[in-house]
Amino acid sequence: MFYYGVDYYPEHWPEERWNLDASLMESAGINVARLAEFAWVKMEPEEGHYDFSWLDRAIEVLGKHRIKVVLGTPTASPPMWLVKKYPQILPVDRDGHIMGPGGRRHYCYNSPEYRKLTRKIVTAMAEHYKDNPDVIGWQIDNELGCHESNRCYCDNCLIAFREWLKKKYGTLENLNNSWGTIFWSQTYTSWDEIIIPRRTVGSHNPSLLLDFLRFVSDSTIDYQNLQIGILRRTCPDKFITHNLMGLFGGLDYYKLAETLDFISWDNYPKFRGDVNPAGIALSHDVMRGVNSGKPFWVMEEQSGAAGWEIFGPHPLPGEIRLWAYQGIAHGADAIVYFRWRTCRFGTEEYWHGVLDHDGVPRRRYEEVKKMGEELKNLTDLVGSRYKAEAAIIYSYDIRWAFDIQPNNPSFNYMEQIQRYYAGLFNQHVPVDIVNPLSNLSRYKLVIAPSLYLMTPQIRENLERYVREGGTLVVTPRSGVKDWNNVVTDKTLPGELADLLGVEIEEYYSIPGDERYQIKGIGPEKYSCKAICELISPKSAEVIAQYEDGPFAGKPAATINRFGNGEAIYIGADVDIQYIESLLFWLITRCRIDIIVMGPKEVEVTVREGEDGVFIFLLNHSDKAEAVKLSFPGSIEEIMLEPGDVKIIKR
Ligand code: GAL
Ligand code: ZN
Repeated sequence: MFYYGVDYYPEHWPEERWNLDASLMESAGINVARLAEFAWVKMEPEEGHYDFSWLDRAIEVLGKHRIKVVLGTPTASPPMWLVKKYPQILPVDRDGHIMGPGGRRHYCYNSPEYRKLTRKIVTAMAEHYKDNPDVIGWQIDNELGCHESNRCYCDNCLIAFREWLKKKYGTLENLNNSWGTIFWSQTYTSWDEIIIPRRTVGSHNPSLLLDFLRFVSDSTIDYQNLQIGILRRTCPDKFITHNLMGLFGGLDYYKLAETLDFISWDNYPKFRGDVNPAGIALSHDVMRGVNSGKPFWVMEEQSGAAGWEIFGPHPLPGEIRLWAYQGIAHGADAIVYFRWRTCRFGTEEYWHGVLDHDGVPRRRYEEVKKMGEELKNLTDLVGSRYKAEAAIIYSYDIRWAFDIQPNNPSFNYMEQIQRYYAGLFNQHVPVDIVNPLSNLSRYKLVIAPSLYLMTPQIRENLERYVREGGTLVVTPRSGVKDWNNVVTDKTLPGELADLLGVEIEEYYSIPGDERYQIKGIGPEKYSCKAICELISPKSAEVIAQYEDGPFAGKPAATINRFGNGEAIYIGADVDIQYIESLLFWLITRCRIDIIVMGPKEVEVTVREGEDGVFIFLLNHSDKAEAVKLSFPGSIEEIMLEPGDVKIIKR
C-alpha cells in the first residue's frame, strides 16, 4: 500500500472541525495521518493522570474516512508541569548555563528522571493503543538532536561520558595512549578526572572531542532504544520509525536506523528560498543509505511557505507535486505533508501547510489532491528498490573529525560530497550513499571523499573492492589519522599508499580565496582551492598536473592499477568542472549504464521491483525539455512540460 498523508494536530482545532478535515483529506486521497508528537500535556495533564479520550475520538473520526494513524511519542516537548516538578531534566550548554523551557527539546538524554518519565508516558500510550487497528505504527519523539539539543554538558552527561569511555577503553592507560594525553599534561590518573568539553581556554584535545560527539550520538540512540524496547514489547505488530533530518550531522544515522523498522525523514526543499534539486536528491539518497537501501517514508514534506519569524517563498504551481515525486523516485513508499492546516498560534504560525490559517482548500490542496488521484495507479511500485551503479562513501566519524579540525577554513567534507554527487547527478548517474564498511561489490564506481580517518578494516574493504575490478576515487587528506583522531606515523596516504600507488611529499593549505590551475587529460583548465598536495607517484600514472601554485608542474591526480580495478587519487580540492570531466571519463571507462540523454535539469532514477522497472523523469527546469531514453534496441524521445514528472513502467 502506498501511504499518502498529512501531519495533523487535532488538538489545535475545535472538535467540530475534525470531521470536515477528515472528509477533505479523504477526497484528496489521504490515507494516513501522523498525530500527537507534541501533545504530551493533553495526554497527561498532570503527572500520572492520562487522558486519551480526545485522541481516541480524533482517531475514530479519521478512521471513518479510511485514514490510518501513525502516533508520535510526545517526548520532544516536555510539558511545563513536568519541568517545574523536575527541573533537573533540563539540558546544560557549553558554558554551563541551564537551557530553560519555552521552545522544545529542553531535556537531557541522560537524565535518569527524564528517562523514567519517558518510560511512563510511552508505556501508557502503548498500552492504550496496542489493539487499535487504526494505529499502524509509531514515530519515536521528533527529530532527535534537532537544534543541537543532544549536546548537553550537564553532570549526568559527564558521569555517563566517563562510563562510556570506560566501556570503550577498558583501562585509563589505554585511554591516555589512544588520546595522546601526555600533550599539555592532560594525562588522567583516575576516571573521575575526565572532563566533558565545556568551554575552556584555547581548544580541547581532538580525540576527546571526537569521542564526545560519538558519545552524544550514542546517548541519543540509547534514549531512542529505550522507547523502542517498550513499543516492541507492547505492540509487536506495529511498525516503529523516526523522522530524520537529511544531511543533519549531529547523530550517526547509520546506527540510529539499526533498531527501527525503517526510517522516515523531513524534507523542506524551499525552506530558505532557492531550490537545489541535486541537494534534495542527495538528502533522499543519504536517507535511503542509512536505511540500508530499503524504501523509506517522507514524514514531513513541504506543502507551503516555510519559516518561523520570517517565511520563505511558497511552492509555485507544480512544485509540491514535483518534490513529492522526487522522494518517490528516490525510494520513498510514503509521502506525508507537513502540515494539514497552518497553525494560528505558537512559534510556527508562519510554517504553512496544505490549508491556510482559515482552513479553506485552495491551490495547494488541489495540487495534493491531483497527486492523490495519480498515486492510485502507482501501487505496484511499493517495495521496489532504487537502482544505482555508483556509490559515494559517507562517514559521520569523518565528518565530525573535520568539524573539529577543518584543516583549512574553506575545506569542507560535506561540500565535497555534494560536489561529487552533483557531478554524477548532472550526468544522469544514480548514486547510493554507503558507509565505509559496506559491501561495495555491486558498484562499478565508488567515490570516497577525504577518508581522513582510517582503519585497517576500511583499507581492506576498499582494497577488496578494487582488486575485484572496482573503480575507486579518493580525494585529499585521506589516510591521515587513525580512528581515535591521532595522526598516523606512516607516510601519507598512510594505509592507502599501496592501493593508490602514491606517496604524498607535501600538503599545502591554500590561503584565502586563492585558486590554482589544474590541467587534466584534455586541453581545458580547471581550478582548486583550500588544499593541494604534492603527489609522488610510485606505481600510479599521472592524470592531472598543477599549472601554478607551490607545486606548479607537479602531479595533482593519478590513477593506479590494483588487481583487476583502478584507484584514482585526486590531490586537491578541485572544482565541479574538473569533477564533471573526470567523472565523464570514468563513467565510460567503467561502463556505467546511462539510460537518458538530455539536459541536466531532467533528473532520472530507476526503481526495480517484482512488478516491473519504473523509470522516473523529473523536469526541474522552468522550460519544456526533451530527453532521449535508450532501451535495449530502441530509443524513445520524451517531452516534459516545465516541472513535470513522467513515470515509465517496463
Ligand atoms: C520540522 C519539525 C516539525 C516542525 C517543522 C516546521 O523540522 O519536525 O515539528 O517544527 O519542522 O518547523
Ligand atoms: Zn545532560
